Amino acid sequence: MNPRLKLAASLILFIVLIFVMIPDMLKRDSGDFNIDAPVLSEPSADKTDIDSEPDTVLEERSHMFATGNLNIRSGPGMDNEIIKVIPTGEKVQIDERGDIWYKVTYRDATGYSHSDYLSDSLGDNTQVNAVTEGFVEGVKQVNGLILVNKEHKLPAEYSPGENPEARSRLDDMLLQGEKEIGKPMYAFSGYRSYAYQENLYLSDLYNYGQEYVDKFTAKPGHSEHQTGLAFDIGGESKCWADPCFDDTEEAKWLADNAHRFGFILRYPKGKEDITGYGYESWHYRYVGEEHAVRIYEEGLSLEEYLLMQ
Ligand code: DAL
Ligand code: ZN
Repeated sequence: MNPRLKLAASLILFIVLIFVMIPDMLKRDSGDFNIDAPVLSEPSADKTDIDSEPDTVLEERSHMFATGNLNIRSGPGMDNEIIKVIPTGEKVQIDERGDIWYKVTYRDATGYSHSDYLSDSLGDNTQVNAVTEGFVEGVKQVNGLILVNKEHKLPAEYSPGENPEARSRLDDMLLQGEKEIGKPMYAFSGYRSYAYQENLYLSDLYNYGQEYVDKFTAKPGHSEHQTGLAFDIGGESKCWADPCFDDTEEAKWLADNAHRFGFILRYPKGKEDITGYGYESWHYRYVGEEHAVRIYEEGLSLEEYLLMQ
């Protein structure tokens, strides 16, 4: 072919090709930005997936579980104040990781927890054998158990009412006791408000004097009855809240069996200097079966069990 003709033919072919391809390219480009086109959800979905992948991993890594009742402290170290106690098995947000102390957030509290008591998974939920102490809403707690005594006071506004689990186990215990010894038993005093204890203290002081109240009646805010976990139990003898109950069959059955139902004899004989009160054969405190059995078998007062282990 004549070279001129060849050049002209190539040019025409080139121009035709351009006219055929440009609209197609334009169509595809504009398609990527057409928000109405359903296909467009794919790139944006892809983007979300890519972005969310590290987030998901981060999310999993930024939470751990308390392997025992875990203290949150105001700073990284044992000498810092406890600001909250996290119950065993609760999920905790991890804000920062140090070598030993992690900055954590649990509900409304942010502070530092010892990493030994944090686990990536709930695992078999075995309780770490560590003592944890702190205040929850102004109430002293050691290893998840409330401690009220002459030293540790409850806030006046703390009014939880009767604890339903404690009541249910109490009813089981009294029924079983009656079955085993053939004598009925009664809880003649249970939950008491701060104001009720205040009146009781003043009337006992008036009726029986200072020495008596120091031994047998807690000042308002210092009674375990305000927790809803304590009950005074008596029998038909009417020796209610009186040392004449000590040698009754009912008192003996309670002392030997209350732990099976999660209760402990709170003010045992021989532990008066530790508990701060005289022997009360009638006053039982609910702590749950596991603790109650250990306290019973080791012959401890609650103070010894919680603070000296
Ligand atoms: N009798 C006990 C100490 C109380 O008053 O709570
Ligand atoms: Zn009592």
